[in-house]
Amino acid sequence: MPTQTFRLNGETVTVDVEDDVRVLWVLRDLLGVTGPKYGCGINVCKACTSHVNGRAFNPCAVRVGDLGADDEVTTIEGLPATVGAELHPMQEAWLEHDVAQCGYCQPGQVMAAVALVSKARREGRTITDADLDGIRNICRCGTYTRIREAIVDGESRM
Ligand code: FES
Ligand code: FES
Repeated sequence: MPTQTFRLNGETVTVDVEDDVRVLWVLRDLLGVTGPKYGCGINVCKACTSHVNGRAFNPCAVRVGDLGADDEVTTIEGLPATVGAELHPMQEAWLEHDVAQCGYCQPGQVMAAVALVSKARREGRTITDADLDGIRNICRCGTYTRIREAIVDGESRM
């Protein structure tokens, strides 16, 4: 069995697993990191949204063999440490707006929100309604209105 090495939430991890196993299964089943949720497994629902090198990605759609030893995967568990705090400002906004209902989609929603604000910052701008419209993370509980409000608030806190 080949070994796979990458960085996860600030630490180097190594696992024995075939190259073509998707990163989501490595995180959840081999490393016990269950923040990224399994919804569809085919890059549609976005419940597994996490970051690789600071950008949003869906680990159900990436082979672990395609990660390099220096690639930094961040899940909701590691998000607060990226700002050196107990909670990321986007998570604080989430609590303020009482966004979550069943909660299943929410780790992915928060990770998508942070990636969206970071992308807009790299482009030297703030997020727009069109950006919010472009979020594809599914919420079967229908918390979309509160998600939008929290993202706008979270951006102002970041
Ligand atoms: S589980 Fe990854 S996009 Fe649905
Ligand atoms: S809060 Fe239940 S799926 Fe989004």
